[in-house]
Amino acid sequence: MSDQVTMTAMNYDADRPKADNPVKVMDLSLRDGHQSLFATRGRTEDMIPVAELMDEVGFWAIETWGGATFDTMHRFLNEDPWERLRTLKRYIKKTPFSMLLRAQNLVGYRNYADDLAMAFVERAAENGMDVFRTFDALNDYRNFETVVKGIKAAGKHFQGCICYTLTEPRLGGDIYNIDYYTSKAKDLVDMGADSICIKDMAGLIAPYDAYAIVKAIKETTDIPVHLHSHFTSGMSPLSHLKAIEAGVDIIDTCMSPYAYRTAHAAVEPFVMALLGTNRDTGFDIKKLAEINTILEKEVMPKYKHLQDDSKFSIIDINVLLHQTPGGMLSNLVNQLREMDALDKIDDVYKELPKVRKDLGQIPLVTPTSQIVGIQTVNNVLFDTPEERYKMITAQVKDLCYGLYGKTAVPINEEVQKKALKGYERGETPITCRPAEVLEPEMEKAKEAIGDLAKDIDDLILYAIYPVTGKKFLEWKYGVSEPPPEVKALTMAEVKKRDDIVAKAKAGKLLEPKPDTPDKTANVREFNVFVDGEYFKVEVDPQGDMPVMAAAPAAAAPAARPAAAAAPAAAPAAKPAAAPAAPAVDVGDGTPLTAPMPGLIIKYNVNVGDKVSAGDTVVILEAMKMENALAAPCDGEVKALGANSGDNVTKGAVLAVIG
Ligand code: CO
Repeated sequence: MSDQVTMTAMNYDADRPKADNPVKVMDLSLRDGHQSLFATRGRTEDMIPVAELMDEVGFWAIETWGGATFDTMHRFLNEDPWERLRTLKRYIKKTPFSMLLRAQNLVGYRNYADDLAMAFVERAAENGMDVFRTFDALNDYRNFETVVKGIKAAGKHFQGCICYTLTEPRLGGDIYNIDYYTSKAKDLVDMGADSICIKDMAGLIAPYDAYAIVKAIKETTDIPVHLHSHFTSGMSPLSHLKAIEAGVDIIDTCMSPYAYRTAHAAVEPFVMALLGTNRDTGFDIKKLAEINTILEKEVMPKYKHLQDDSKFSIIDINVLLHQTPGGMLSNLVNQLREMDALDKIDDVYKELPKVRKDLGQIPLVTPTSQIVGIQTVNNVLFDTPEERYKMITAQVKDLCYGLYGKTAVPINEEVQKKALKGYERGETPITCRPAEVLEPEMEKAKEAIGDLAKDIDDLILYAIYPVTGKKFLEWKYGVSEPPPEVKALTMAEVKKRDDIVAKAKAGKLLEPKPDTPDKTANVREFNVFVDGEYFKVEVDPQGDMPVMAAAPAAAAPAARPAAAAAPAAAPAAKPAAAPAAPAVDVGDGTPLTAPMPGLIIKYNVNVGDKVSAGDTVVILEAMKMENALAAPCDGEVKALGANSGDNVTKGAVLAVIG
């Protein structure tokens, strides 16, 4: 049998004979790896030290872009995402680049119009992209139509994904069973896919299910089959091995420093496991070791403060319990924490499958994982015994309208009706390809951004991310100064931080020096923040200076261990932010307050406008979801408390209605 793994050679040297059917490998370190492990914060300058070596390994492709990179780079790193492609292409000359493309969602969180989708794909290809791994969160391939046209026109590789999801603990049930996956594979072949990817973003695929699916798909098509699986639940290396036994053509791995936890299986064990077999990768393990050394010494130390080391276990058993992506669960936890509602996590776990069912049992992957997740949190926090779905996000409304595509099973009619009441596009959902109802976007974006976009790549960035994209272009062209938190961390800073931690661990941080005078009763404590680092400083005035009574200690970050490296990732934690000092005079009007911290996207009203209770006043983005905040009563808009682009705290007064 050709797909069996058999021993063929005992020569383990780097120049060993090529295997009959080598497993091809795509490296994910430079995209999904750091996206999974440290929130996509990897910088281009930290990819360059290993880029040329990685080009020598013999990967089928290296994933360099897509997913969250485009968003994170311009928003948090002050890096031009297009520039990363061009830069890496100068170092990686032989190995094709792969990107993750969210089909009509491109690299954002909603469906974009066809003109923008075409322009995006064309420019991605032009800037160096070779393989377009394309997925749609609903597995609705009508959302592939436009981008596939673009990929084919550019002469590039179209890899079609089937998002792997379950409603049961294992493969089976009425919806996501083996027939579902083979019929999706056939659809992709019919669309002209050059390869098929089973995209297991949550680490749900169990080894014997992987075997069954790969085998079944291999029987329906001759095009290569590729398995992408996250380690999160701990099953992925097992599943990859079973997939290899079933004849999978390509697997996804990371260099070991980027591997495991919520990322992916490491490449090195596969190289060794397959060595001397008919599926031998042919990779030189010594070369991989060389790359690892550079990553360990020069790159990873800059990111370790972003890694979650709060747990001993590197697997997330919740994934096995809830069949939900690990990233989604950690987002939920973060959101609850921001809203001081972490005690509601069990309610959220209970509500989640209900919301997913109401919304058509959709797969949980960006953006649907956020859509389902945030709505679940909203339901848990804001619903009352009398009213379910009290605060419906804009994205859930779009989903109910059909703007994301067709759901696996119909949406709960009652929820759909409630969501679409007063919906701007109409109250009757559509059944056509979603982008057909979208107006072209490029011209409008061009008018709106004007000269700030110097070329088409700037314009596309702005069109996809109007608020943060504009901010980035202002930094890029010197219109405004980028804030300090977008600057890169240097190895010198890492060393300084490590020294402080080492001292603290050795108990030396606060050790009194021999000539230290005794503290008097006048000593006062100060919290000092330097470049995002936090120090606790005691000041003891000398002589007879009058001492003012210290203000009662605000509930400052007191519980933090004295030396724990400051959370540089957190946007410059404002020391005990004054509880939303209302910039507006509420008077005898009714305030509309922010139910959660977030970013103001836009106001739908101006001062002086008449509104009725329930009318949308302002759109607040929280956890990447837009929430339409409604007028609490009838009346006139007396004042607005913020501007578009402002970050607001929970409880901030956003408008006053009187
Ligand atoms: Co992934």
